[in-house]
Amino acid sequence: MGRRAIVTHPSRETLFDDAAAQIETAIDSACRARDRAFVVLTGGSTIPPVYERLAQSVGIDWNRAELFWSDERCVPPDHPDSNYGMTKDVLLEPAGVPEANIHRFDGEEPDRERAAAAYAAEIEAALAEDDPRFDLIVLGMGGDAHVASLFPGHPLIDETERWTGVVSADDFDIPEPVIDRLTLTPRALHATREVLLIVTGTKKAPAVHGALGTVRDPTQWPAQLVDGPDSRVTWLLDADAAAEIEGEL
Ligand code: 6PG
Repeated sequence: MGRRAIVTHPSRETLFDDAAAQIETAIDSACRARDRAFVVLTGGSTIPPVYERLAQSVGIDWNRAELFWSDERCVPPDHPDSNYGMTKDVLLEPAGVPEANIHRFDGEEPDRERAAAAYAAEIEAALAEDDPRFDLIVLGMGGDAHVASLFPGHPLIDETERWTGVVSADDFDIPEPVIDRLTLTPRALHATREVLLIVTGTKKAPAVHGALGTVRDPTQWPAQLVDGPDSRVTWLLDADAAAEIEGEL
């Protein structure tokens, strides 16, 4: 396993400030070292305040940041459930990110497998051939410990070859996901220098406890998949999300 840090913030505001600062630093370091930054963004309801902060930042050279997504719901980009659509409204447009740097899943493509394969090809074409890695993957986590759209018990948890996959809503008899999704696989989540996992709220405390516990079982806690062999993983938690691990680490 690579290196792991767990940072607990007393408030969500300081957590969001820290998350935005860490993303800015990762982009800046990558640009200094390799001229461009390859960053994977997440969807979900926790992340928009972080994107709002990034949009306000004057220190980021968006011309040199190539942006991808961890997963996408199979809806058109202007649908309220679109992760790309949310990011566009809160970050891409306000920050003026160039169109050419935006690499989104084709959520509206009816042939899901085709959309997943096309995204894998886009990733492979963008990343360095001799060292195909992202610089940073930003993720949220669900109350069931899913990350990206890798849900407990789903076969994609064991995917080690392909970069992307399809999660069909028919695969589940649980409330999530209610619509088909496209997602990065564990193979892609491991292909990064750094992961930033942002988790808030009491409802996620049991999943944080399980994912960070001593028993390794990504089928039950897919968030454990973030521990790639060579990446630095930072968990950013608020006090509520960290409630069940206090005193244990
Ligand atoms: C999505 C995500 C997903 C999300 C978690 C946390 O499309 O929903 O990419 O993995 O990050 O479910 O979501 P919340 O922030 O809404 O709790």
